Amino acid sequence: MTQRKLFVTTALPYANGKFHIGHIMEYIQADIWVRHQRMQGSDVAFVCADDVHGAAITIAAEKAGQTPQEFVAAIAAGRQQYLDGFHISFDNWHSTDGPENHELAKQIYLDLKAQGLIATRTIKQFFDPVKGMFLADRYVKGQCPKCGAKDQFGDNCEVCGAVYAPTDLIEPYSVLSGVKPELRDSEHYFLTWSDPRCVEFMQTWTGAPGHLQTEVLNKIREWLEKDEGGEGGLNDWDISRDAPYFGIEIPDAPGKYFYVWLDAPIGYLASLKNYLDKKGVDYASYMRDPQLEQYHFIGKDIITFHTLFWPAMLYFSGRKTPDAVFVHGHLTVGGEKMSKSRGTGLDPLKYLSLGMNPEWLRYYLAAKLNARNEDLDFNPEDFMARVNSDLVGKYVNIASRAVKFIPGGKLVGSNVAALEPNKLIDGVRALFESREYGKALREVMAFADAVNMRFDGAAPWKLVKEGKTAEAAQVCSECLEAFKLLTACLKPVLPTLAAQAEAFLNCEPLTWSSAAQALGEGHQVGEYKHLMQRVDAKQVDALFEAPTEVSAPAAPSPQPSPAGGRGSEPGGEQVAPEITMDDFSKVDMRIAKVVACEAVEGSKKLLRLTLDVGEGRTRNVFSGIASAYKPEELAGKFVVVVANLAPRKMKFGVSEGMVLSASHGDEKANPGIFVLSAWPGAEPGMKVR
Ligand code: 2FM
Ligand code: ZN
Repeated sequence: MTQRKLFVTTALPYANGKFHIGHIMEYIQADIWVRHQRMQGSDVAFVCADDVHGAAITIAAEKAGQTPQEFVAAIAAGRQQYLDGFHISFDNWHSTDGPENHELAKQIYLDLKAQGLIATRTIKQFFDPVKGMFLADRYVKGQCPKCGAKDQFGDNCEVCGAVYAPTDLIEPYSVLSGVKPELRDSEHYFLTWSDPRCVEFMQTWTGAPGHLQTEVLNKIREWLEKDEGGEGGLNDWDISRDAPYFGIEIPDAPGKYFYVWLDAPIGYLASLKNYLDKKGVDYASYMRDPQLEQYHFIGKDIITFHTLFWPAMLYFSGRKTPDAVFVHGHLTVGGEKMSKSRGTGLDPLKYLSLGMNPEWLRYYLAAKLNARNEDLDFNPEDFMARVNSDLVGKYVNIASRAVKFIPGGKLVGSNVAALEPNKLIDGVRALFESREYGKALREVMAFADAVNMRFDGAAPWKLVKEGKTAEAAQVCSECLEAFKLLTACLKPVLPTLAAQAEAFLNCEPLTWSSAAQALGEGHQVGEYKHLMQRVDAKQVDALFEAPTEVSAPAAPSPQPSPAGGRGSEPGGEQVAPEITMDDFSKVDMRIAKVVACEAVEGSKKLLRLTLDVGEGRTRNVFSGIASAYKPEELAGKFVVVVANLAPRKMKFGVSEGMVLSASHGDEKANPGIFVLSAWPGAEPGMKVR
């Protein structure tokens, strides 16, 4: 078989937070495929990078008091511990802000422009008159036009998932200044997907055999097709954003930057180029090689960008198009959906810090993965059962039991052919190739079952007692030959365990072509050291325990306790982690007199309070206490207000502080809100200490 040359990527993660288990799952899926390719001698470049541009990252950096560059550098510095921890064997990790990406993005844009696929159009866009700048989608908030949820970003609603333009928001306001933005004209750059050439290309590329999974293709057809009235189909794609924007400047367009999704996939090429440069390989000739195959592993939420836009960008800029885009479903944990930014309750670093074996997770995910775009669930009980019964109970067990009956660890001749090694190896190898990992591992475990049955049936311990040591050694040599086959089959999934097994078997690193060759009579195996521990239920419990401070006692249940609950959850919730006096003194609480109080039209929850905090002016504060108090009950009372809370723009106006009140952690079981009020004698403005 001729050596294949492969360029493989996973989606580039946003550099706005830590990895969550969804990232790790995608990397493990791709890593298993890459390791399988390396086992068949393919020349693989497996690369990734941080996706660093755009408004979301600029906002996160501002919150952290850093420049975007400082912020993403800190994120990048945290990546390796996850990759090493879970044995993800990327050849390169780069950044979309690297010089290669600036250069490639500009060149691809110019190539597309030369094809007549760039148009400019003046659009109406929100402008912040206080800050003097156009507002990216993430800098505008307001009420969702679909479900009415408040404080939603300008691009999509986190409550109902609706996608819309910032101009669709009800009562929009600028996140930067709180003011209502103005609509102003701005010239934007578009990639003209509506051009018949693009539509034709996308239809041809997506429909070509092998490029996409059937279920992905079906989904895409809906997007590409126009209805009978000529409606639907793809719109031109707005690829520019106005300064200030953390991104790549558009050539010959001062003050205009590429929208983050334009330069993000180009980051695949940039990371590859960065890798090849370091190896001294010429990027242009590498890419020109007609043998080169290009594959992208991605999640189902970014299909449009990868299966329509990205291949078209490459094709019309005269570049190589992907050979396939492999889409996986989402990971749920215990049936719970994962948020893109926050992940789930399974924290990958916590997993590692508890001393849990990364290969348990690799094995479990592989056992559940297939080639389709299907969601999969991490179930803690199932995880423990599969690892303990399959990996330890079936696979590892073979070696630990068989080696005891082979005197001096020297294999004797055995009927290896009866194991049909080629049948197993070829079948499993083909399943890895087609990303049917679950099926591959089922075959492997069925084989392990058969080997264990052979061992149990032959009962070498009895044979030894009966003086038939040669017969026992022969059965056990056969079992160790089988163990070698199993090790090769598990190697893409369990690289460390396989390396330990290779050391024990005293064989060269296994490849698909060497896997079926018998170790043979007279082969000396090494000393057996225990290969893998079982998962301990306590570790799994600890993994899903609510986070606690280092010095805090063992965490009680994270759920609010039932009505009247006492003990470690006073008032239905745990006492917050300890703070210092300095922390406390940051909160400036003052006595305030309620000068006026009124209902808020359009809100069942809020009351509007006019407060005298002793400042020679009054403050307007909204408080969510309308269910507990009539406005007239509060007028004239003395309450406690957090006086140094940043003013908050709400739908009904700006709130300039927060009135303190008490409520139970489980509001449903223990309803009631109780406003804190001062004893007679307290004056407006007095500090609460
Ligand atoms: O959805 C995401 O997490 C994006 N950062 C993926 C980008 S993939 C590629 F296009 F860079
Ligand atoms: Zn909504």
